[in-house]
Amino acid sequence: MDGLFITFEGADGSGKSTQARFLAEGLRELGFDVVLTREPGGCPVAEKIRDIVLDKNNTDILDITEAYLYAAARAQHVHEVILPALKQGKIVVCDRFIHSSVAYQGYGRNLGKERVLEINKHAVDGCLPDITFFITVNPESAFDRMNEQKERDRLETQEQAFYDRLFKGYLKILEDEKDTIIPIEAKGTKFETKEIVLAKAKAILQEKGLL
Ligand code: TYD
Repeated sequence: MDGLFITFEGADGSGKSTQARFLAEGLRELGFDVVLTREPGGCPVAEKIRDIVLDKNNTDILDITEAYLYAAARAQHVHEVILPALKQGKIVVCDRFIHSSVAYQGYGRNLGKERVLEINKHAVDGCLPDITFFITVNPESAFDRMNEQKERDRLETQEQAFYDRLFKGYLKILEDEKDTIIPIEAKGTKFETKEIVLAKAKAILQEKGLL
């Protein structure tokens, strides 16, 4: 039996990492075998690439280099962690995946969706999410949450125009992939959002005959 691959997307400060963790815990309570992981990273080699790509001292990384670094980390992560878990019938919950590359590198960095998908085609090797939760918050809350962090990484120190392109990019992705991306408007507390996400996930598991 093949498992289920669920990813979380959203801008920095959207609270998606917390929601990914909550969902993993909720699904475990229902008895599922869940692997919670993240990108960039999720395995030793990919975590090393993460350090390079998020290091704000690396001011001279080209946009195209950045796209290949994320894809390289993803290739390792897919083959070392995600695919083996799915083959064992587990549920994989991943904080960010290929849509982050399309949004950040494709739209944010202006490399274009097609080029980013082409680079990533070889990295993901056909392993694409079954469901993606796209967490949206109003820009003020995201900004407040980002300001609560002590230090910002390289991707969090861009000019406003980058974030505008990024946000519009995510909306285009949502429009293009209505069947698999579920938008979640995080207007309430993180616990209220948790219940909304869990209810949707349960409905999908029931539809697929897994619950
Ligand atoms: P993340 O760990 O989600 O940071 P945070 O927890 O602070 O939101 O992601 C790190 C950064 O990497 C984030 O700014 C988004 C960026 N990113 C890309 O630009 N492309 C990608 O393919 C991925 C996975 C992340």
